Amino acid sequence: MDRIELSKAMIFRGEFSPPPDKSISHRSVIFSSIAKGTSTVRNFLRASDTLSTVNAFRALGIDINDEGPTLTIQGKGLYGLSEPRDVIDCGNSGTTIRLLSGVLSGSPFFSVLTGDGSLRTRPMARVITPLSLMGARIMARDSGRYPPMAIKGERLKPIVYEMPVASAQVKSSLLLAGLYAEGNTEIAEPVKSRDHSEKMLPAFGADLTVNGLKTTVSGGRDLRPLDTLVPGDFSSAAFFIVAALLIPGAEITARNVGINPTRTGLLEVLKLMGAVIEVSNIRDVSGEPVADIHCRGRAALKAVSITGESVPSLIDEFPILCVAASLAEGTTTIRGAEELRLKESDRIKTIAAELREMGVEIEEYPDGLSIKGTDNMQGAEVESHGDHRIAMAMTVASLVAEGRTVLHGTSAVDISFPGFFDIIERLSS
Ligand code: S3P
Repeated sequence: MDRIELSKAMIFRGEFSPPPDKSISHRSVIFSSIAKGTSTVRNFLRASDTLSTVNAFRALGIDINDEGPTLTIQGKGLYGLSEPRDVIDCGNSGTTIRLLSGVLSGSPFFSVLTGDGSLRTRPMARVITPLSLMGARIMARDSGRYPPMAIKGERLKPIVYEMPVASAQVKSSLLLAGLYAEGNTEIAEPVKSRDHSEKMLPAFGADLTVNGLKTTVSGGRDLRPLDTLVPGDFSSAAFFIVAALLIPGAEITARNVGINPTRTGLLEVLKLMGAVIEVSNIRDVSGEPVADIHCRGRAALKAVSITGESVPSLIDEFPILCVAASLAEGTTTIRGAEELRLKESDRIKTIAAELREMGVEIEEYPDGLSIKGTDNMQGAEVESHGDHRIAMAMTVASLVAEGRTVLHGTSAVDISFPGFFDIIERLSS
């Protein structure tokens, strides 16, 4: 059944390893597919989002062996993909459709990308505009705004482009297109977004340099294959970190968690709220920093104020941060986070609606929200809106609310974290 009944957790203790990183798993399949030769990916995330990327590249003629723990990909080089016989379904995955659009813009054939009801409402002009400047021919629904999008790949030319919004998906799409353009493609972003592509592409042999907010890639030559080991996903660990901070007497250790600073803004915010979080055993996994994270429930957290600059480094953590703010002393304000309205759901609207069901006072702004902390959250009937991060955030909320909660739409967690409820059950029993 697509629902779960939850009640207040009396204990929350133990160790766990979060699932493999979603962003890095997507990139490992995409880069390996357009590299020339056999690549492997260990600890690949098998979840519906990342399997959308695997299926897309299979439809483009790439042989991907997914038996056993390691993914083996027979990359065919930049120009080795073949025209798909059907529309490619990217499911719920913004990363799949936006990064793929960069690859297909330089691939000399016709393709159509679509997705589920949520993906078909997500903005695509942010990739279509710069990819068209590079010479790609792309048409999309509603005057070029939304999927489905039809792409006719062309010989691309390099561009110098200033991105109007900080988005790692847009940046990565343009870097991929840049691999197909003769010369230097230069992309500048307004605030640093996650930099996994910039870290991984040079390891695949790309000529790429980063200078502050500017990334330059030089196109026209093939990538070489690589063996990648995917670290644990900080964004998945985040739900357990916040749960441990909110449940009295809780104590958890998350093992093997990626701590790339472009991803861990939540840790800084939680520390500002008064949390004590220990990060230890820092090491390097395939060019990414990885650590163990230990934390426990102590005194109540304090409200905090968040503005635009820090938003990209915790973009996926706002739903769970809103749960932390709901129990903090004082009123938390989040501004400059209008991108949240454009995720798998309108996360400003959906998290506000669901936390209100539990008795939290919340005011919405076009670019954020303010949340008045309470010590009296009440269990309720709540809904995931088909959004994995809302489902997981509301699960944590139900572990700290008084009484019983029924969460509808639990299957959304499979987008990034199959097994989420098993770990919740293990740590709280
Ligand atoms: C992602 C980038 C972010 C993030 C998404 C994954 C990526 O999206 O929210 O979950 O893998 O590049 P934007 O690029 O739209 O900010």
